[in-house]
Amino acid sequence: MRPIVLVHGGAGHIPSERAQGSIGGVCAAARAGYSVLTAGGSSLDAVVEAVANMEDNPHFNAGCGSVLTAGAQVEMDALVMDGRSLSAGAVSAVSNIANPVKLARLVMDKTSHVCLTAGGAAAFARQMGVQEVPTESLITEYSRARWRRNLEPGANPVECQMGKMGTVGAVAVDSQGNVACATSTGGILNKMSGRVGDTPCVGSGGYADDAVGGVSTTGHGEAIMKVVLARLILFHMEQGRSVEEASDLGLSHMKTRVAGLGGVITVDTKGVWTARFSSNQMAWAAACDQTLHWGLYKGEHFTEAIVQTI
Ligand code: GLY
Ligand code: GLY
Repeated sequence: MRPIVLVHGGAGHIPSERAQGSIGGVCAAARAGYSVLTAGGSSLDAVVEAVANMEDNPHFNAGCGSVLTAGAQVEMDALVMDGRSLSAGAVSAVSNIANPVKLARLVMDKTSHVCLTAGGAAAFARQMGVQEVPTESLITEYSRARWRRNLEPGANPVECQMGKMGTVGAVAVDSQGNVACATSTGGILNKMSGRVGDTPCVGSGGYADDAVGGVSTTGHGEAIMKVVLARLILFHMEQGRSVEEASDLGLSHMKTRVAGLGGVITVDTKGVWTARFSSNQMAWAAACDQTLHWGLYKGEHFTEAIVQTI
């Protein structure tokens, strides 16, 4: 089986001055995940590496660069899932760690639970020796300015939330044919404190099953949760649809049924993949067969050879 990793940097409207940074970020994350796979690492290791790479990149709404709650706080959500056993780990409303996706992995590996939230997740992080970081270190000037702008008279918070997202995610299949997914986000701009979005919810923010494939989602979380988007797409694949057909069916159902926009990356057990979105843009990148693929606008697909130095 040829290994593959596919990543997204969030569906929505990406301002032109931030486009290059988003493309550079997803390409770097796909390369990071692919290095793990070609070195013999598992799909789970690859998706965690790729997502942590984007959490560390201030261009994305995850980890450093997360959007702020109405009270100007950071509350991040993340999920990982292992398609071998359907094991899953998630955290929600975490504020003082750099890489929520790594904490989600610890929840999966070290507890009998699937999701830990807020204070309990923070206590578990301390118990696991995860380094605490000041919330300030996760807040960028850009996210603070957007928070401020959204409080101005005449601001349309719904439009703003629907328009500019930046959740990050990855799906991968390793040389053993095992599928994994990971997704991480700061949520939606000016959300209420305590709001849990789609990202940490199994089947909404992502799903991985070695019998079918893997999906990571991005977009308006409340809409994604109502249609359980990731599992819905895998259901269509179970019914014989291609990755592309299944992804489009899921996204169009979400648009017509609950007026929600978003994007997905989808892979099947053979490593056939697609990146689809109903929003204007979604930064995505894929690495397989020593080739990097990426795009931002609908129909865009660039490629270049991956030259690996060992
Ligand atoms: N965290 C254990 C499980 O996913 O079942
Ligand atoms: N899809 C990310 C969120 O709504 O939180």
